[in-house]
Amino acid sequence: MKKDFENQFSEPEEKVEPLSEDELALLKASIQGSKIDRSKLPPHDNSDRAKLFRLIKKNKLLAVCSLFLAVVLVAGIIFGCVVGISALVRSNRKYTFVIDGETQYEISKKEAVINDVLYIDMRKIAHATEMMLSGTESKIQFTSKNGSYIIFENENGYAIINGRRTEIRASTVDGLKKAGIAAYVSKEKCLVPLSFLEKIISPDTMRIQYDPESRTIYIDPKYTLYDKGETKVMSSTRFIPAAWSEPPVYKYDYILNMDPYLENITAEYLLLVNRNVHLAEDYVPEELTKVEAKTDNENQQLVYDAERALYAMMLEMEAAGIEDIFVTSSYRSYKRQIELYWETYVDRFVGQGYSWEEAQKKASEFSARPGESEHQSGLCLDFSTKALNDKLTVDFEKSDAFKWLSENAYKFGFILRFPKEPEKLAITGYSYEPWHYRFVGRQAATEMYYSGECLEEYLAK
Ligand code: DAL
Ligand code: ZN
Repeated sequence: MKKDFENQFSEPEEKVEPLSEDELALLKASIQGSKIDRSKLPPHDNSDRAKLFRLIKKNKLLAVCSLFLAVVLVAGIIFGCVVGISALVRSNRKYTFVIDGETQYEISKKEAVINDVLYIDMRKIAHATEMMLSGTESKIQFTSKNGSYIIFENENGYAIINGRRTEIRASTVDGLKKAGIAAYVSKEKCLVPLSFLEKIISPDTMRIQYDPESRTIYIDPKYTLYDKGETKVMSSTRFIPAAWSEPPVYKYDYILNMDPYLENITAEYLLLVNRNVHLAEDYVPEELTKVEAKTDNENQQLVYDAERALYAMMLEMEAAGIEDIFVTSSYRSYKRQIELYWETYVDRFVGQGYSWEEAQKKASEFSARPGESEHQSGLCLDFSTKALNDKLTVDFEKSDAFKWLSENAYKFGFILRFPKEPEKLAITGYSYEPWHYRFVGRQAATEMYYSGECLEEYLAK
């Protein structure tokens, strides 16, 4: 039985013929002639390393490709890291501000870029261009020597440019345009979008340029040469209301040809000076010019554009048949206002028996304290007539000149600064002065003529 079982599952015995002598010799020769160095193969090693080695031996092409891919992958990762790190370093580079050719300061990206908009500290520009600062910790006014000014309020999307409310628009660092961007005002800084300043500062007075490659901002005030080019004087900055605040268009009729004076008549001067907004003791307007129109003395001066506009207005008045009118007061220095307010009016009331406080109160009804008079701005003047004996009196309103001025002064950029209506008196702070005219420029004067607003109301819009 056992025998049968074994027979059933054992290999059937094969009968192998022994090799012939010749066949044996051939086999030996082929083994000896083989190029395979079998001693180098680990025939009995079954470790993973040995298997991989055998696999590589078998699949040389696959191995070379894998190695190549691995090298490419590692190189890619290294390259990516280098590019990423250098991009990060580049994007965090500092911003450099070069003002009037000198490197003034450097600030980090974190400080310079707020909500993707590049800001500049307006205080630095003001310092370099001798602008005057006034206001509070959160609302600041920069006034140029030429009377042009701009007001920024903390976190407000509007600025006031020469009295006009102008939305702050700016471009982001990616070139997208955004409106209603805030300015940031604090005790130390006044951060304003650079691209906004580029738009609202007259390029005749200052050039602002930004080089994104080097992250450098160039602020270049312009200079004017005088005395055969020997004296170099920095132009004072002029702010221009942005083109997006469109003013209404009016038509004007004149008897005379006003073309030679149009540039002066249409220049805009909205500097506000009153009991609340003062001029500094050393404020002297630029381009003070001797008044060429009729005056009662030789020493009358006004800012150039106001002087030319006045001259044009008085030529037109004469052409309309009005002869009895002349200028009796115009630019007054701070010092002159001290003489008038304290040494003339207050002293006179004290001499009449009023107390010191009462004397000041009475003088202040008609005269500004030093620094509070717009006569210091060089933009206003007082008229009188021979019929009134060169006096400043309310009777001036009965003159032909006053009647003509009421109808026509706006066409030359002048407004009656202290109107008669009691409600206006409460705003301007001074009693009615039919003789006192202020130059603001034709557009603003016309708007006020039609709206009936006084300067404070017009500027508060
Ligand atoms: N009379 C005006 C208010 C002035 O003194 O400026
Ligand atoms: Zn006056």
